[in-house]
Amino acid sequence: MKVVEIATACCLAGILVAPVYAADGVPAGYRHFTHVKSMVILPGHPLAASFGGMHHVYVNDKGLAALKAGKTYPDGSVLVFDLFESTDQEHAYAEGARKVTAVMEKHAKTFAATGGWDFRAYKEGKGANIVKDAASECFSCHTAQEKRDFVFSTYTP
Ligand code: HEC
Repeated sequence: MKVVEIATACCLAGILVAPVYAADGVPAGYRHFTHVKSMVILPGHPLAASFGGMHHVYVNDKGLAALKAGKTYPDGSVLVFDLFESTDQEHAYAEGARKVTAVMEKHAKTFAATGGWDFRAYKEGKGANIVKDAASECFSCHTAQEKRDFVFSTYTP
């Protein structure tokens, strides 16, 4: 094999194994991930228009250590933000219908433009990803958390 042929073979192989990552759908079994926190956002809160209601945050096993340490997450880490209507039941806040399920999945190289995270969201927790432009719809706000690898939530044991 001539040098040129070796180089060509090598580069073609490189293209074939290049990371082509495009997961879709809510992560399987996320309700069994580690529960990080819950919160009820009421009318009047600055984020009420987009995130009003009751939400829960979950992290998978791959991301748990990084969340606890506030450090860079390894590839394959998944965080889920599960948002529900918050209904007033006799002066108690209860989980109503699911509004949206938002997902952050880490693949540093593939999603380098958005901090290494694939930002996705699913209306009522199902169907196709509704995020059209992760940079403007999601990352623009999460960028405030750069020192914690773009994650807002912190873990309380
Ligand atoms: C206006 C700011 C803002 C925008 C825009 C935004 N988020 Fe967030 N996001 C937050 C905040 C604040 C939290 C933390 C909520 C809490 O503390 O319970 C959060 C939490 C999350 C979490 C849980 C992990 C973490 O960072 O705490 C995920 C997953 C998430 N968002 C995904 C998304 C996706 C996907 C989009 C785009 C569709 C998006 N976010 C857009 C502010 C934003």
